[in-house]
Amino acid sequence: MTNPIDFNSVLSLIDRTISPTYLSATQEIVLREVWNGKTYSKMACDYNYDPEYIKTVGCNLWQILSNAFNEQINKSNFVPYMRQKISCSIVVNKKDELQISSSKSLPSDFYHWATAPNTEHFIGRDKQMKLLESWSQDLNCNCIVVSGMVGCGKTSLITKFAKDIQNQFDYVIWFSLNNSLSPTTLTNNFLKIIGQNQDQKSNSGSTQQDLSSLLAQLINHLKQKRILLVLDDLESILEVHQVGICYQRNLEDYGHFLRSIIATNHQSLMICASRVRPKSLEYYGMNQIKILDLQGIEESTIEQITNLDNTKIEKTKLLDLSTRLHCNPQLLKITASHLNIFHDDNEDLEQVVQELCLVEEIVSLLEQELDCLSKLEKEIIFWLAISCKPIPQKDLANNLKHAQSKIKFNKSIASLEKRSLIVKDNSQHSLMPIMKSYVRRKLVQLAL
Ligand SMILES: Nc1ncnc2c1ncn2[C@@H]1O[C@H](COP(=O)(O)OP(=O)(O)OP(=O)(O)O)[C@@H](O)[C@H]1O
Ligand SMILES: [Mg+2]
Repeated sequence: MTNPIDFNSVLSLIDRTISPTYLSATQEIVLREVWNGKTYSKMACDYNYDPEYIKTVGCNLWQILSNAFNEQINKSNFVPYMRQKISCSIVVNKKDELQISSSKSLPSDFYHWATAPNTEHFIGRDKQMKLLESWSQDLNCNCIVVSGMVGCGKTSLITKFAKDIQNQFDYVIWFSLNNSLSPTTLTNNFLKIIGQNQDQKSNSGSTQQDLSSLLAQLINHLKQKRILLVLDDLESILEVHQVGICYQRNLEDYGHFLRSIIATNHQSLMICASRVRPKSLEYYGMNQIKILDLQGIEESTIEQITNLDNTKIEKTKLLDLSTRLHCNPQLLKITASHLNIFHDDNEDLEQVVQELCLVEEIVSLLEQELDCLSKLEKEIIFWLAISCKPIPQKDLANNLKHAQSKIKFNKSIASLEKRSLIVKDNSQHSLMPIMKSYVRRKLVQLAL
């Protein structure tokens, strides 16, 4: 039988109870697996530990928990005890003002959603949600980055996901970096939000402190509590250079900020959305960071997202057009609001795409997308745009203005594929049709 209570709620309760000490990674494994009904010997085998060692970790754990909860807790009564304890804490306790009601929501002070978008109409993305869920449960994972083309649905996905798992955390704090906050201000903001809810008010934020000491305080909170930090628009602090992706001028300290959160041991999680794939972050902690390259939405959700399920536009035509937009939800929504582009039922879709390239919002979106690309990636896009048919990788490499290292070239191709800007079919590359039409138009304008 599956346990109706999520283990993270158990972990959260234990963390709060044993604070200021906290569980080691092995102790957490033992608790999680006892919760899942595993024996010590099975755990030892699965995690490659000596069975005696696991037993000792277990014995110590029951001692710690018995002292903390003032109750005799052992391996056999741990699950029922915790289940009962959590069920009790879910009941509204007005005196404590900790209204963990049946809707499982914590008081709003513990949630800071700032300008997070409404996700009421969010649909689909089941596969991606499951993947994010499994990463968020991974004890080693401190940071998840959802990266992808402009308008592909990154903000919607991370926000919906964060809302879905919010009750597994003591705090959820959502921030957008699009106003290029300095890392010191951002850390200060985090500390202020957490400080407001502390029994003893934290003095952070009230005095001028340097980034290192603010980060040390933040990390301490991330260790003591389970905090979900959601950072949208990470690309705002990044810049695409010929040599790779760097931090914007004067925001280089974000390296320090991100490295501290990614590479330190704690029990919290940071989820970011970024138009630019911040590859170098992986070097901060290979196991601690997971990157999801987000592509367009599922075909089955197109009609609903575009609100075109009730119109007379033919389904096959809509699907065909969506394919030319690589199912980018933002492009689809703009297109849906310009349905007058379809003059008649037999309209050539090629022609429709050409007309879409004149729509201001689409031009702006495609330009923003081009801004996210390196020089080499742009050159590849331009070659694919002027070609009438798909190009084999070797020919594409031969076309380039300057000889490029194979590694660099292959990386650029892979990156464009991940952004769903180019498609590989039978070793031949072709460009997203709407980008192709747009770049062609741009080239003609440049030539005139
Ligand atoms: N799964 C979804 N269900 C419903 N609507 C969606 C979904 N995904 C995206 N959208 C809609 O598509 C539009 C673009 O989504 P969103 O803002 O999340 O993209 P983004 O990748 O964050 O864009 P940007 O690169 O500009 O930050 C929004 O209007 C959003 O509501
Ligand atoms: Mg966004």
